[in-house]
Amino acid sequence: MLQGKNIVLGVTGGIAVYKSVEIVSRLRKAGAQVKVIMTEAAAKFVTPLTFREISQNPVSVSMWTEVANWNVEHIALAGWADLFLIAPATANFIGKVANGIADDMLTTTVMATRAKVIIAPAMNTNMFENPIVQENIKKLIRLGYVIIPPATGKLACGTEGSGRLPEPIDIVTVLTSLQRRQLQSLRGKKVVVTAGGTQEPIDPVRYVGNNSSGKMGYAVAKIAKSRGAEVVLVSGPTYLPDPPGVKVIRVKTALQMRDAVLNEYSDADIVVKAAAVADYRPQQTAEQKIKKSDSNLTIVLEKNPDILLELGQKKTKQFLVGFAAETQELLANAKEKLLKKNLDMIIANDVTIAGAGFNADTNIIKMILTDGTVIELPQLSKEEVAEEIFNRIESLLPVRS
Ligand code: CTP
Repeated sequence: MLQGKNIVLGVTGGIAVYKSVEIVSRLRKAGAQVKVIMTEAAAKFVTPLTFREISQNPVSVSMWTEVANWNVEHIALAGWADLFLIAPATANFIGKVANGIADDMLTTTVMATRAKVIIAPAMNTNMFENPIVQENIKKLIRLGYVIIPPATGKLACGTEGSGRLPEPIDIVTVLTSLQRRQLQSLRGKKVVVTAGGTQEPIDPVRYVGNNSSGKMGYAVAKIAKSRGAEVVLVSGPTYLPDPPGVKVIRVKTALQMRDAVLNEYSDADIVVKAAAVADYRPQQTAEQKIKKSDSNLTIVLEKNPDILLELGQKKTKQFLVGFAAETQELLANAKEKLLKKNLDMIIANDVTIAGAGFNADTNIIKMILTDGTVIELPQLSKEEVAEEIFNRIESLLPVRS
């Protein structure tokens, strides 16, 4: 769960600082990258050098030391973090964060981050039970901070009671389960995805088709599944294996795709139409293989239904996402489709750019929302693109319902 995650560990001044060294070690063993920020008081208990060695990363203590690069350090760390853990957290630190005080490297970075902040208080029992500390903790919980309650037992000051920093393994377990819960953010939602190109038959061995590989739609289905959704993938012919745990409906033509999607539509919460649907199909499909002759062959194409347009017209509660593969006027064309098809979001990509679109493993997209917002993403793997799409959908879902 923590593999590849960026974790900032804030360490404040208490005797439990020595346990934080083991937290770093456990987080690294779980596959996370860890960067440590210490307060000046914490650095009096254990040296920054210890944390530097164990984390294999520079340790920040002061806002005012000579900079190694010109990134504003607290903003860079705040943005880098996927998770922000403070262990041990003193009463002083908790009081400052709860009251908007940012007067050192750690509190400034906490204030600037959008990552989940997890705080593990550790202090003397009387301090912990002090009503001011309790009020501050309640306020932090109300504001969305996660508090890991202290353990009970013999404290460094000789007394018995609540206030001990929980064991490092227990703290790491909290982070792991938080991460798991976050990944289940689409539990209870039904997501319908279309992928691949359609094939419109000319005769029993030939068809009108396109270059779509299906990779983008399959990545979308896989990420939706990993976030706990019930996923139905309506796929045109591809060479890709079924994503595990996903109901896959294989179709060939646009008409078959339309039937399959409409069947799954009424109870869907989110629909992502990544398929490259053929806009036209041969008016006649020859029963037998067409034999060559000396003259030219004319195939009359007739219009296929626009599935997405129909979904937009029949929309009730569904969050509808379309794709716009363009070779010119990317934004203008995509915005027009967003409006015309009554979508909630459109993913625009310029398929003439290397690393974007058909058959590539990466994509370079712009997400366009109904209020005109355009979010440009750099070149990412198709799975990373899918993560970004769902991050955005999830932030918009509550606003719509
Ligand atoms: N789409 C669809 N049914 C069609 C054609 C397209 O559902 N018959 C959907 C695609 O799955 C995609 C979106 O519409 O999500 C845009 O597809 P695109 O081919 O880029 O646009 P079109 O509307 O077909 O317009 P054009 O081909 O003229 O650019």
